[in-house]
Amino acid sequence: MCNCTCIRAGLSASPEVAQIRPDDNPKSLVTIEHEPMIGETPQRAFDNWLTPNPLFYVRNHFDIPHIRCSHWKLSVDGVVSQDLQLTLDELKDLTRVTLPITMECAGNNRSDLDPPAPGNQFQNGAVSTAYWAGVPLKDVLAIAGIGDGAREVLFEGHDSGVPAPGESEMPYTRSLPIDVAMHPDTLLVYEMNGRALPEEHGHPIRLMVPGWYGMASVKWLRRISVLDFNYEGFFQTDRYIIEDETGKTVPLSSIGVKSVIGSPAEGDVIEMGGMCVNGTAWSGEDRIAAIDVSCDGGETWTRADVFGPSERYAWQHWRYCWSPPAPGEYTLMSRAIDARGNVQPMKTHWNRLGYMVNGVRPVQVSVRA
Ligand code: MTE
Repeated sequence: MCNCTCIRAGLSASPEVAQIRPDDNPKSLVTIEHEPMIGETPQRAFDNWLTPNPLFYVRNHFDIPHIRCSHWKLSVDGVVSQDLQLTLDELKDLTRVTLPITMECAGNNRSDLDPPAPGNQFQNGAVSTAYWAGVPLKDVLAIAGIGDGAREVLFEGHDSGVPAPGESEMPYTRSLPIDVAMHPDTLLVYEMNGRALPEEHGHPIRLMVPGWYGMASVKWLRRISVLDFNYEGFFQTDRYIIEDETGKTVPLSSIGVKSVIGSPAEGDVIEMGGMCVNGTAWSGEDRIAAIDVSCDGGETWTRADVFGPSERYAWQHWRYCWSPPAPGEYTLMSRAIDARGNVQPMKTHWNRLGYMVNGVRPVQVSVRA
């Protein structure tokens, strides 16, 4: 375990989250893998708009690096006017921004795919929401001074290993197009739900790219390089890529519009009478505009009610009050639409690495008299 004071200090004085800090009860994640640590958020945590830090899903490619803040510095180099070496305190002196952001792993719901795709067989739980506090990346890049011809920004984590058989040892690295790196909401974060960033989520600093699948948000940052070329690395061009409808391979970026039913659950037996279908919906490209629900296998659809916070980068809770017309078997579905007009697809576009599984998910229930 890391012994840094910044982790032991725990809570920071963070007025913007003081009112909404989730109740951290130390129940565990659903383990997918022990080494490296990979775990899903348990279903009951989805009732909370904010995911408590200990229940926020974890996706690591390599072992967690144990970093001491007193020794840690962030390097900024490449196509810049001056190289930088920033301490945590120097970063914290910059203007602070706090945003609620839902992060989803690109492989969430992979276990739904038929035929199966290789990789961690995530069910619903590789998605979570937290308040993240840090500094805009653009402010750090402005200090370094971006040079002419800058195309991308490369991020390197402190963790390393052999990512697949036949590959050599490497750190976790990913790049962003320069316009995404310079977006005011792209952050270098040091706090999660008002607490110092936990070790498993990238202590002391991680990148946070709102609206993009989680692979972009590099943890345990140690180096940022401004590039005048397009980076090609294992996690950029071998993984986290998807074939589009024409068969062309493109890198994953924005989170696809998606909704899931939280309750009732698959196979539930429900008494006749009124009941609520509850769920969450999110999209990387824009806020959620509407959620439609069908209780007859997709024949007819009715608008659900939204409740709880409506934020640009965070999921939307919704419910639909349903009175089953008669006892029997029913197929429930939900379909989200975002403010840009993106509609959740009825079926996921199957792809060999099993990413972006955002098709409508039917839930079968029995209603009895
Ligand atoms: N950053 C580093 N350095 N190493 C990693 O393995 N995993 C990525 C991303 N950043 C990863 C990383 C992936 S695939 C995801 S989905 C998110 O971190 C998960 O972040 P979390 O564990 O905080 O939920």
